[in-house]
Amino acid sequence: MKILAPSILSADFTRLGEEIRTVAQAGAGYIHIDVMDGDFVPSISFGMPVIRAARKVTDAVFDVHLMISDPDRYLPEFAACGADILTVHAEACTHLDRTLALIHSLGKKAGVALNPATDLKVLEYVLDEADMVLLMTVNPGFGGQKYIPYCTRKIRDLRNMISGRGLHTAIEVDGGIGDATIREVLEAGADVLVAGSAVFGADPAGKVKEYLKILGEYEA
Ligand code: DX5
Ligand code: ZN
Repeated sequence: MKILAPSILSADFTRLGEEIRTVAQAGAGYIHIDVMDGDFVPSISFGMPVIRAARKVTDAVFDVHLMISDPDRYLPEFAACGADILTVHAEACTHLDRTLALIHSLGKKAGVALNPATDLKVLEYVLDEADMVLLMTVNPGFGGQKYIPYCTRKIRDLRNMISGRGLHTAIEVDGGIGDATIREVLEAGADVLVAGSAVFGADPAGKVKEYLKILGEYEA
């Protein structure tokens, strides 16, 4: 199943509830929520109060991407404020296995995110413990950046690694996904496509519908 996950980082924050409702009603499977701490990444976005408020406007799946150092400190709070999927960066976790177990113990789905330069080898022993792997296709920290071309090979390699082991781990791609790259990442084997600036432009509902049509062509 292919899923579109609009990133609210590029939404109009003065009308956040409306923006979320619009893309959810247009058929977006997940709402992608980027939390940045100004330490793991160079920018600061938003945290629990915003997620708690957003939770009131929709039942959509909240796909929370934690770009924060040592996420264990805050996982129970993020679980309590309405996250459904909690994705942590392998680079930000000293004890990744323990972090994934903590997320599961909170009753949430666990994702592992990797920066573009991080080797897939870090997944070697924990792949079975993750529900999803998020491959960053830009360096995390900002919306609206350009897709890094070598990431296509990485998506393909991860797809082979997952199928080779007979697993059903979802592959999420995040960064620079839009008109010029959507087919390329789908062909490489991505399941969940994050799109921020490409969706929250002039016509978010129209863009979601347009992308869902493309996703449908790649449905197995
Ligand atoms: C970047 C975030 C992304 C971002 C994507 O650090 O993780 O989710 O919102 O934005 P676009 O789709 O504009 O590249
Ligand atoms: Zn993200």
